[in-house]
Amino acid sequence: MEAWQYAGPAERVSEPGTFFASEAGHVPVVVTRGRDGKLRALLNVCRHRGHVVAEGCGRRATLQCPYHAWTYELDGSLRRAPRSEREPGFDATGLSLLPLAVAALGPLVFVNPDRDPPPLHLDLDPEGLRFESSEQREHSGDLQPTTFEADATGLTVTRWGRTAVTVDRYRR
Ligand code: FES
Repeated sequence: MEAWQYAGPAERVSEPGTFFASEAGHVPVVVTRGRDGKLRALLNVCRHRGHVVAEGCGRRATLQCPYHAWTYELDGSLRRAPRSEREPGFDATGLSLLPLAVAALGPLVFVNPDRDPPPLHLDLDPEGLRFESSEQREHSGDLQPTTFEADATGLTVTRWGRTAVTVDRYRR
């Protein structure tokens, strides 16, 4: 059973057509808000040859893999694969980016690589939490999963990158 992981701030995907790339533990993910307004998390791995599809964050109509330009809708479905018309029997319907479990709690988005995980629960009502600060510290150890720690005053989210630990603090 995989664990829920903090993926990023909900404000990055507050409007239709927005996305951000992140990691859930060691799993590359992209969180999107489709034109239908629905929040989704997708495995950020191209169905062609496994390249990472999306980087950073922003607003886009589609996500395009930089390797061979396969293009996906924000709901993960494959819109276009160059030269696929030359491949007899090519079927785009089975080549969507794979969906993952996603949950938004207050200002935070969490992702779980397990497609049928238990509900996300924090011992703190996250409604009303406000971003307070972000701090980065150098880090040279092994990658570790993101952790989140709730207390009476708010929530601390700690993310281990390859070279730095980022500590985001949210307060009630
Ligand atoms: S690996 Fe993505 S288009 Fe080829």
